[in-house]
Amino acid sequence: MRTVFLIAASLTLCVHSLSLDRLFRSYAGPDSTMELDEFSKYWGHFDMDGNGNVTKQEFDTTWKNEDLGDEDRAPFFFLEMDRVPDEVLNDLDYVHMFRIFDENGDSHITKTEFKFNWEGLFDE
Ligand SMILES: *[C@@H]1O[C@H](CO)[C@@H](O)[C@H](O)[C@H]1NC(C)=O
Repeated sequence: MRTVFLIAASLTLCVHSLSLDRLFRSYAGPDSTMELDEFSKYWGHFDMDGNGNVTKQEFDTTWKNEDLGDEDRAPFFFLEMDRVPDEVLNDLDYVHMFRIFDENGDSHITKTEFKFNWEGLFDE
């Protein structure tokens, strides 16, 4: 029983880290790092009606649909992201989030920086 649980748990971890890799790769482009425009494009894809602002409802919906993990904490993740507190996510926030992910401040987020910060912010 315990073994089954451990196997299930490690499978879950694998699937999750695999999808973070895939996510990073699909936005990072040929240089394999994310610049601000690429990073903003990722968060911008939560903007379902394309008006430039991600509402809390759009955020919760996309977070859930794409199974990004810990969905019952999506409201808290939204608050973490809303760096300029105006109850929507947009370019005003992405620039701050970018600096948080870009640990060494060189204007490029590496995969290591991305995963480290994603896990710190959005995983338990
Ligand atoms: C987007 O949010 C900003 C606040 O950051 C607001 O001023 C603007 O009117 C909003 N735009 C739309 C299309 O809702």
